[in-house]
Amino acid sequence: MKKADVIIVGSGLASLQLARHLSKDLNVIVLTKSFLKHSNSTYAQGGIAAAIGPSDTPYLHYLDTLEAGCHLNHPRAVMRLVQEAPALVEELIKDGCQFDTDDTGALLLGKEGAHNQRRIVHGGGDQTGKRIVEGLIQHLSFNISIYENQFVFELLIDDLGRCYGVKSKDQENCTHTFSAPYVVLSTGGCGQIYSFTSNADTITGDGMSLAYIAGAELADMEFIQFHPTLLYSNGETKGLITEAVRGEGAVLINETGERIMEHVHPLKDLAPRHIVAQNIYDYLRKGQSIYLDITSIKDFQKKFPTVTVLCKEHGIDLSKGLIPVAPGAHFAMGGIQTDSIGRTTVEGLYALGETACTGVHGANRLASNSLLEALIFGKRLAEYINCNSGKHIPIHKNKKNAMLLSPTLPEKELIQHFMMDRVGIVRSAQELTEQMEWLESFQLEKFHESRLDLLTVEQITRFFMMQTAWIVTASALEREESRGGHYRSDFPIERENWQKQQITLQRSLERR
Ligand code: SIN
Repeated sequence: MKKADVIIVGSGLASLQLARHLSKDLNVIVLTKSFLKHSNSTYAQGGIAAAIGPSDTPYLHYLDTLEAGCHLNHPRAVMRLVQEAPALVEELIKDGCQFDTDDTGALLLGKEGAHNQRRIVHGGGDQTGKRIVEGLIQHLSFNISIYENQFVFELLIDDLGRCYGVKSKDQENCTHTFSAPYVVLSTGGCGQIYSFTSNADTITGDGMSLAYIAGAELADMEFIQFHPTLLYSNGETKGLITEAVRGEGAVLINETGERIMEHVHPLKDLAPRHIVAQNIYDYLRKGQSIYLDITSIKDFQKKFPTVTVLCKEHGIDLSKGLIPVAPGAHFAMGGIQTDSIGRTTVEGLYALGETACTGVHGANRLASNSLLEALIFGKRLAEYINCNSGKHIPIHKNKKNAMLLSPTLPEKELIQHFMMDRVGIVRSAQELTEQMEWLESFQLEKFHESRLDLLTVEQITRFFMMQTAWIVTASALEREESRGGHYRSDFPIERENWQKQQITLQRSLERR
């Protein structure tokens, strides 16, 4: 067993920001299931939202965040986030991060959906995530050991219910054990449980499943944000077309050239994402294609190098000015319930970034608030650990999972297909119930008490996808209204009695 002071699972922005700010006296282990730079953060095109512009204030940023989140956000958590944003951007610049500026050196601020101000700080046009990730990696010091290709499949929980480490598998299927008084899950969300998604292929809900199995509370899991514009080719989505493209003037049109958002919302093409996504989805369901008309954007290739490469890779001729698009799963507003520091309901276990539910996003995340959340909470948790480390928890005996399992689980593609179809952009009690029955027919609870180390990484991944799919479906079935990233065709409007209600799920550990 390898011992450390802090174990960080995942290598996105929240993980790297935590690692970068932890005291150099601490022994830190980062475990990532693929390689260091492979994460949703690296591929993030938008930017960091911060009230920097001359007519902007943190309060206006706060109002836009609550409006997008359909007022389900925790107001105090949002206020702290937006107030800390401008200083965070300054700190990144001091650290050497190069954001896009005009000829006078002033930051160029982009606009995205549901923002009433230009406030998106970006780098390299649409390469913001990559820039920040690379900047943070440069600052990682010698006390941090990075293990790539380590798939964490189990949290070690002692008899008092405290987390004290993890078990992982390497590429050769060998099991490794790591222990630390601080175990931080920062594995991203769960976009890959859907067939249409902007997420990296590694984002399969691992952190959410691990935490659920360990008995931690999860919240708001019914709220999945579908990004309106993923490149759509041959019936498949191929990657993100950043909303900043619409921010620069692109508009959504149908096959006859009509603007589809014209009479749908006052913000038209930059309406909140769920509204744009639902509208596009309606057209696609009727067999029609939807395009982003980019003809009004000057220097498109210079402004959007990532989108340009993506389109070229998939044979889209940008000189025609039209990009075919479809919506896909982009961001999980919910996750492992944490407080303002990142503490979960299991002692010793922490969560950050998209894996966590900190309350800042409510029912729908405002564009470019996710990199912001990852960076703010990553640093906050580092400060907390730096002040509190050294208090090593004595480990009490822990139970051993004894059962052997011969798993029958569906193929990954089938899980993704059913989630898209039954728990996707539009849901109903009938489809959700069908999906619950299907998921429960695989008796997922048997896996909770079984020797997962005897399964392959691929089998455990499918189990985690099924487990996370179950959590999302159960939450979506319970919320009998439509709000933000959760649209029920049988309850199509927001209902007042749901305004203050949060759906939380926690596994009963009575059998431990
Ligand atoms: C985008 O660039 O459209 C995505 C940014 C985000 O989701 O915040």
